[in-house]
Amino acid sequence: MKRKVTKAIFPVAGMGTRFLPATKSVPKEIMTLVDRPLIQYAIDEAREAGIKEFIFVTSRGKGALEDYFDVSPQLEQSLRKKGKMDLLAQLKATNMDSGAIAYIRQHDALGLGHAVWCARRLVANEPFAVILPDDVIAAEKPCLQQMVEAYEETGGCMVAAMEVPQEKASAYGLLDVKEDMGSIVSVKDMVEKPEPEDAPSNLAVIGRYILTPQIMRNLNRKKEGAGGEIQLTDAIAEELKAGRDVFGLRFRGQRFDCGSKAGFLQATVAFGLARPELREELSEYLEELLHMKKVAQ
Ligand code: UTP
Repeated sequence: MKRKVTKAIFPVAGMGTRFLPATKSVPKEIMTLVDRPLIQYAIDEAREAGIKEFIFVTSRGKGALEDYFDVSPQLEQSLRKKGKMDLLAQLKATNMDSGAIAYIRQHDALGLGHAVWCARRLVANEPFAVILPDDVIAAEKPCLQQMVEAYEETGGCMVAAMEVPQEKASAYGLLDVKEDMGSIVSVKDMVEKPEPEDAPSNLAVIGRYILTPQIMRNLNRKKEGAGGEIQLTDAIAEELKAGRDVFGLRFRGQRFDCGSKAGFLQATVAFGLARPELREELSEYLEELLHMKKVAQ
């Protein structure tokens, strides 16, 4: 019988070097899209998919992340006194149940696979989700929920998949497809950041996974992969070698790579335009800007 997925790992121990100097003191996951930190989008997506236990793999300098999840009685009281009930409701929606969050340290940034492995004791013998908060996905039905529904049909391991431009494919983990069933594909092999000539496809793995506990045992071997890092992709590929199923889900939604500056800026504009209270002012400004650019040309 397939077990329900109720635990999610959020690997947030990376150094975020692409956002230096900001990430010298602000964890990347606390950076804000409109008015919510990246991590809040990830948590909301996980909650909607039925996740009850949230495991953060952190590192030195990520204290702001832990503080963010503290309840703030003083702030709540002050908003209540001032009758700012809308803001109070928004604030309370970010509160987490006591005991629902756990923090584990990754002492050395040895790679995503290693970060996930650090949470092995908390995951124990259950399937679990992994969410990378810097992949923000705007979707009618949250991406992880789409994956949980697909996983309930297929079992095995499931990764979020998306076609990426050929010239960018080598920056991703890529799927070699065995059978294409439309939105779900069954996977023959997967390879992390291959040389362009070795890319099996341009179907890339995006930062959402549902994994079996066997993945933790595969990660026990701590094999180094692409870039000298312990890669999660390699641990999943081992499942294929052992004859077990791995699937990809072409999710419905728009993914923003908020780990890169261009992706983060695009997400800021898209999420801003999606807000009724900002849409008009922002779109007028963008139109003006584009007009000025045209005139200058
Ligand atoms: P990235 O490849 O984006 O690395 O990691 P990074 O350190 O966050 O950012 P840059 O490239 O230096 O700008 C993808 C995800 O894996 C986590 C990161 O926190 C991020 O969520 N990660 C990566 C770890 O938790 N530990 C690691 O050792 C490596």
